[in-house]
Formats: sequence, C-alpha cells, structure tokens
Amino acid sequence: MKFHDPRAIALLNASVVTAGYVLLSFFTSCILHPASLSDFAMYGMLLVTGGLLFTGTYFFFRYTVDKFIYSKIRLIYKSIYSVKTQKTNRQRFRSSRDILDNVEQEVTHWGAEKQKEIERLKQLEEYRKDFIGNMSHELKTPLFNVQGYVSTLIDGGLDDPKINKEYLRRTEVSVERLIKIVEDLGEITQLESGQLYLNKVRFDIVAVTHEVVEMLEMKAHDKEIQVIINQPVKPVWVHADRDKICQVLTNIIDNSIRYGLDQNGRSKISFFDMDENILVEVTDNGVGIDQDDLPRVFERFYRTSRGRETSTKGKGLGLAIVKHIIEAHQQTINVRSTVGVGTTFGFTLRKA
Ligand SMILES: Nc1ncnc2c1ncn2[C@@H]1O[C@H](COP(=O)(O)OP(=O)(O)O)[C@@H](O)[C@H]1O
Ligand SMILES: [Mg+2]
Repeated sequence: MKFHDPRAIALLNASVVTAGYVLLSFFTSCILHPASLSDFAMYGMLLVTGGLLFTGTYFFFRYTVDKFIYSKIRLIYKSIYSVKTQKTNRQRFRSSRDILDNVEQEVTHWGAEKQKEIERLKQLEEYRKDFIGNMSHELKTPLFNVQGYVSTLIDGGLDDPKINKEYLRRTEVSVERLIKIVEDLGEITQLESGQLYLNKVRFDIVAVTHEVVEMLEMKAHDKEIQVIINQPVKPVWVHADRDKICQVLTNIIDNSIRYGLDQNGRSKISFFDMDENILVEVTDNGVGIDQDDLPRVFERFYRTSRGRETSTKGKGLGLAIVKHIIEAHQQTINVRSTVGVGTTFGFTLRKA
C-alpha cells in the first residue's frame, strides 16, 4: 500500500486520532482518578471507545479523501476525454486499488496517443501540400496548350484551313488529357482515403488478359510491339474484383508498350501457379528502370528520367493506382528491371 493510497491516508489519520485519544484518556485518568488505573472496566471502555473512534475516523477520512481525489480526477478525465464522467466511473475510481497510479497511466497513455495524432496530422499536411503541388504542375501543361491553340484560332487561325482543324484536334487531345488526369486524381484520392469497395467474383484471368491485350492492340501495333500471352492449358480461375484487375492489367501492359522498344519490342504475359495464389507477370524488353528508381515507381506522380524521354504522355499515376488495388486485395506487386534489357512487373491474385 503506497502512502498516496486513500486507504493508507485514512489508516494513518485514524491511527493518529485514536492514539491521541487513548493517550489523552489514559493520562487524564492517571491525573484525575489514579485509583481507576487498576480497574479493568476502564481499560475495557478505552478499548471499545478507541476501536469505535478508529473505525469512525478511518471511514470518515477514507470518504473525504476519496471525494476530494474524485473531484480532482473528474476534472482531469473531463479535460482528457471531453466527456461527462458518469456515476459508474466514480465507482470504478473508488474501488480501484491505486487510484492515482491509474490516473497517471491513463494520462501518459493519452499523451502518447495525442503525440501520435499530431505526427499523423503533420504527415497529412505534408501529403496535402505535395499532392496539390504535383496536381497543379500536371494540369498546367495541357491547360496552357489549350489556351495557346484557342488564342491562335481566335487571332485568325480559324480562317486558315491549314491549321484550323489541326489546332482543334490538338485542343481536343489536351482536353482529353485533362479529363483523364482529373479522373485519375479522383480515383487516387478515393483509394488513398481507403474508400475502395471491391466487388470480388470468380473469373478466368487469362480471358481478361486477352480482352485487355485486344484493347491495346492498336497501340502495340503503332509501336510495332508484339504482345504475347503465354497461354496456359486450362483457364486460371481467380477470386478478385474483375474491373479493378482489368485496370491493373491495362496499366501494366500499357506501360510495357509505352516504355518498350520502338522496333523488335516484345511484351510477354505469363501465369505461374503458387499454391494458394496465381502470379501474373508482364515482361518487356524496353528501356528498363534504374535500380535507384525501382522502389519509387509506385509513388504517385513519379516518373523516371528514362520514362520521360521515352514517352511524354505519362502522368505517373498508373502504378500508384495499381498498387492500391492489389493491396486492397491483400496481395502483392513487385518489379525487377535491368536497364537496356527490360522490366518485369508481377502481381499475385488469390485462386478461386
Ligand atoms: N515497363 C516499364 N519500363 C520502363 N519504365 C517503366 C515501366 N513501367 C513504368 N515505368 C516507369 O514508371 C513510371 C511510372 O509509371 P506509371 O505510374 O504507370 O505512370 P505513367 O505510365 O503515366 O508514366 C513511368 O513514368 C516510367 O518512368
Ligand atoms: Mg502507366
């Protein structure tokens, strides 16, 4: 029992008061009735009244100290939780063995929680600044392009058959790019705030890969890149969100075409059985990614200098979206690459 325990305080006070009373009574009897010192009844009386006094003062002090501490603690709790403490809490405080130690623990815990919250808010603030900075940078290029083309058209270009249609077409391309950026931004904001609802179904990942490759056929054809699917013998059934996985495949295969070789380019998609999971790998023989850049390609807005040189169209959002989708499925995505040789992106999916 520690000294600041209400029971210890009450015990000490009760002992002091009782001892004082017993001693005072004893000496008073010695002086006023010396004969009563040999009277056992007097000792009996002293014992009974002393006992009663001890019990009375013990409970009196216990009640007063408890009440005092409770009134102080209630204020601390009120400020910590900003809630009204209820009667049940009072009960809890009273019966607690070491009330002040408990409060100390709770306050320390509360302090640590608050510190964590402050760190998190600081990080969010950094993230927000970063995000807005990147976003305005990304939006500027197509916006300035639109402004340039429209100004030229207004300043007489509209009557020039050599450029009017071409400038309108370029304006359209820039506006499409703006729309795509805004859509991707909306998606990434949703994903980063954890609002991704997955509609998991059973589907054949090989069939979906064929659909995606067909969709990207024109693009591959323009860059003279051959897209090959390493066709497994049987369908490969997985349990995942079909549309989202379609988006993942589109992004990765699109990258393998976009950052692929201009001639003799090749993009190969393979499937590997891994017990509970399926590993899907997309391998190209394109420009490759420097080792220093490898861990960063999944960051939003991150583009490698090699990537920028190869294609001016990227925004650096695709892989960030892909990573969120795969992680929402509790699966993994990884990349390996050798500059001048090629790159492989691989992700896993749960077998169905
Ligand atoms: N297959 C690849 N080969 C080489 N570099 C790649 C490949 N895939 C992605 N990258 C690099 O990673 C960056 C981020 O990719 P991504 O997020 O899809 O953005 P984007 O394609 O819009 O540039 C690219 O800009 C590029 O530098
Ligand atoms: Mg991309």
